[in-house]
Amino acid sequence: MVSFRLLAFAIAVLNFAYGINGAPSESSGGAGTKSFQYKYNAVAITGGGFITGIIAHPKEKDLLYTRTDIGSSYRWDAPNDRWLPLTDFISEADVNYLGTESFALDPTDPDRIYLAQGQYITQNNSAFFASNDRGATWKIYPAPFPMGSNDLGRNNGERLAVNPFKPNELYMGTRTQGLWKSTDRAKTWTNITNYPDASANGIGIVFVIFDPKNEGTIYVGANVPNGLYSTTNGGKTWKQLPGQPKDWSAVTTDPEHPPQSTGPQPMKAALASNGVLYVTYADFPGPYAVQYGAVYSFNTKTSEWIDITPGASNSYPKPFTPQSFPPGGYCGLSVDAKDPNTLVVVSLDRDPGPALDSMYLSHDGGKSWKDVTQLSAPSGTEGYWGHPIEQAALKDGTPVPWLSFNWNAQWGGYGAPSPILGVAKFGWWMAAVLIDPFNSDHVMYGTGATIWSTDNLSRVESNWSPNWYIQAQGIEENAVLSMISPTEGANLYSGLGDINGMRHDDLTVPQPMFGTPGFSNLDGLDWAGQAPNVITRSGGSGTVYADGCGNGAYSTDGGYGWIKFLTCAPGVSNTTWVNGFIAVDASAKSFVWASHSSVAPANTSGPYATQDFGKTWTSPRGLSVQTGNFSADKVQTKTFYAFDTGVWHISTDGGVSYTSKTSKQTGLPAGAGAAPVVNFLKAGEIWLPLGTAGLWHSTNFGGSWSKIGGSSIVASQFSVGAPAPGRKNPALYMWGKVSKNGAQGVYRSDDAGDSWVRINDEAHQYGGPKLIVADTRVYGRVYLGTFGRGIVYADIAGEGSGVLPGTFGI
Ligand SMILES: *[C@@H]1O[C@H](CO)[C@@H](O)[C@H](O)[C@H]1NC(C)=O
Ligand SMILES: *[C@@H]1O[C@H](CO)[C@@H](O)[C@H](O)[C@H]1NC(C)=O
Ligand SMILES: *[C@@H]1O[C@H](CO)[C@@H](O)[C@H](O)[C@H]1NC(C)=O
Ligand SMILES: *[C@@H]1O[C@H](CO)[C@@H](O)[C@H](O)[C@H]1NC(C)=O
Ligand SMILES: *[C@@H]1O[C@H](CO)[C@@H](O)[C@H](O)[C@H]1NC(C)=O
Ligand SMILES: *[C@@H]1O[C@H](CO)[C@@H](O)[C@H](O)[C@H]1NC(C)=O
Repeated sequence: MVSFRLLAFAIAVLNFAYGINGAPSESSGGAGTKSFQYKYNAVAITGGGFITGIIAHPKEKDLLYTRTDIGSSYRWDAPNDRWLPLTDFISEADVNYLGTESFALDPTDPDRIYLAQGQYITQNNSAFFASNDRGATWKIYPAPFPMGSNDLGRNNGERLAVNPFKPNELYMGTRTQGLWKSTDRAKTWTNITNYPDASANGIGIVFVIFDPKNEGTIYVGANVPNGLYSTTNGGKTWKQLPGQPKDWSAVTTDPEHPPQSTGPQPMKAALASNGVLYVTYADFPGPYAVQYGAVYSFNTKTSEWIDITPGASNSYPKPFTPQSFPPGGYCGLSVDAKDPNTLVVVSLDRDPGPALDSMYLSHDGGKSWKDVTQLSAPSGTEGYWGHPIEQAALKDGTPVPWLSFNWNAQWGGYGAPSPILGVAKFGWWMAAVLIDPFNSDHVMYGTGATIWSTDNLSRVESNWSPNWYIQAQGIEENAVLSMISPTEGANLYSGLGDINGMRHDDLTVPQPMFGTPGFSNLDGLDWAGQAPNVITRSGGSGTVYADGCGNGAYSTDGGYGWIKFLTCAPGVSNTTWVNGFIAVDASAKSFVWASHSSVAPANTSGPYATQDFGKTWTSPRGLSVQTGNFSADKVQTKTFYAFDTGVWHISTDGGVSYTSKTSKQTGLPAGAGAAPVVNFLKAGEIWLPLGTAGLWHSTNFGGSWSKIGGSSIVASQFSVGAPAPGRKNPALYMWGKVSKNGAQGVYRSDDAGDSWVRINDEAHQYGGPKLIVADTRVYGRVYLGTFGRGIVYADIAGEGSGVLPGTFGI
């Protein structure tokens, strides 16, 4: 499986070893574009996506790693009190590596860490990353089977494990190919073909546990009923664990909601030091749609099974009634390294409530439980458990204000806020939970959005609430859908997947979320060129409002307050999940809702225009393509541009009517389409980044066009920002290539595209940005919107060239 990909990573590793100071290799001439040292930092949002696993080294305090579904893995950097991203070198070609299916530590060597990387089993591009230095450098080995860190069952695990007796040996439970083994530290793998149940249902084997006391004993669980197996002779023979819970007879189910499996399916397990194997179960792999579950202990010495599922008979406080039904299942669990009878388990998918998911703590091996979640919730939360909003803060008191999003109706079922004012929802998708092996009072749990932590879990014994705080600083795992950098207000506004969007007044601390209407995904943002405090946003809320459209709003005060458009544009409703964006003209009087995904009513076509803030929407004359390749001139009023299927369109009457030019008339490539990028300083100057067809430029409102920036340019993403000192033309930024065999990278041109300088390196690729936006006020700065690594931004760091470590060494 040695491919060119391996070679590419060998180069990346070399760069790491030499301090990532590779000179920009791609400056073509460079005469008019000055080279600088750059640094990259992440915009602080703090979490923002699903935490799928947290693990700790058994022998070294504070050596923690966390994995995410679309943003790879992080290591806890205790001296800096934050998580450190470990794989920002992942290239666009290998973007499928930007998700950790599982990870494993070598219990005999704290420096060794292994990641099993691959987002989707359909992508057939997965790899093992092996490190001898805690993730500072990696060896990359393409894997002979697919992985799915963002597929169903990503909450389970750990599928990957190191043999504590032979630490060069690893086992991996795969989704589709059974159980595999490596004897050379994850470099090569062989199929353990005598494993009895490969259960190729796309979820497959969800955990592998080596017994650290008995050499040759391994427990393996597949996400199927009766899916637990063990070997006591290092895999020579396997046997099914006797007496597994085989059906749902011990669980109250409902014929109207029959369990989705014939029996409980193992989700996660932990082997305690006294030989008891604790196992969580559910009827569906998760993280969503789980309806039923259970928790059992299995004494590996006596083969005795005990149903230890938390419930009315063994939990304090008792379950809240009425509890939503079906009640969800169980997944997250962690056993205290210091006490085999102390463990926490977490329920999964008790949404939409009441009562929501709970974390349970036991000190007697599961005979009795304390409901940590209920004890943590302020009174009056009526089953909608949560933390008082003041606790949504880092340990040093820095608020993570967007986590208080409690003002909106539930959206999309998951990730929803608590409906109780003043409360931040305790969590959802809490599959990753860890009792710190060096401090039993320190418990961390991941949610669909962040990591909560407490240093005094033992307060639960007195039926008091532990003090909770956020321990996710440094984790930035958002999917970025839109960004703007207007000439006034904050330098950056973001539109994010799952968590709406934010005005980023300070890039280094988390910000509040935009207010009502709350969007699950914020698809589009725009700002009015000559009235930059007017900002528009569009997205899906799933909500019908009496006073306007739930999918589109504008602000007149720079994004603090929002006013809903009086009605939605035709074809946009509470069921529209991809909403395009709402372009606003320079004067903030004309708006055009540009979406290619909303369904236009018969005999009309968008993009629809309004001159009365959405009271009425007009289907345009002269433009019949419902396109999202759209923008407004930032200087000349009432002027909008669209470029789709090779045809250039312009409106100068606020989007009511358009004139068009074919590709024959303009010379633009036939069939091409892209959102026009406009000069915010000058009317009628426009660029079109057309990928391998190059970068195109017009200075006369699209009347004529020329290809600029070099003949071999590949313009994948493009933006314009504040001019270089002494210049009037904006600086140009591009994600792409500037020469035929050149590197794909982030490039800047100060001289209108005559020369380019590369401003990133192989260590800073983030799986390739999905969009880039330059700062209109800070020369040299560009924001990269990633899919899974949030927003990173590049800033000039000094004279010279190359990329320096950012503030926190990233
Ligand atoms: C997956 O990729 C490998 C090479 O990396 C190739 O040999 C194999 O045929 C591919 N499988 C599929 C299903 O595309
Ligand atoms: C690996 O072995 C399992 C049986 O355990 C079998 O189902 C699967 O097809 C094998 N895969 C490959 C690629 O050999
Ligand atoms: C609980 O832990 C926090 C630190 O997170 C500390 O400030 C607080 O004093 C502790 N409370 C108790 C009662 O131990
Ligand atoms: C959308 O609104 C309609 C009409 O108000 C309502 O019947 C429907 O249930 C809503 N759909 C969703 C997904 O909320
Ligand atoms: C659309 O236009 C066609 C042809 O003019 C007409 O027959 C049809 O009734 C119109 N449909 C609607 C919903 O207005
Ligand atoms: C932009 O135009 C291209 C080519 O016509 C088209 O494939 C693409 O869907 C358009 N994008 C949007 C957002 O409308």
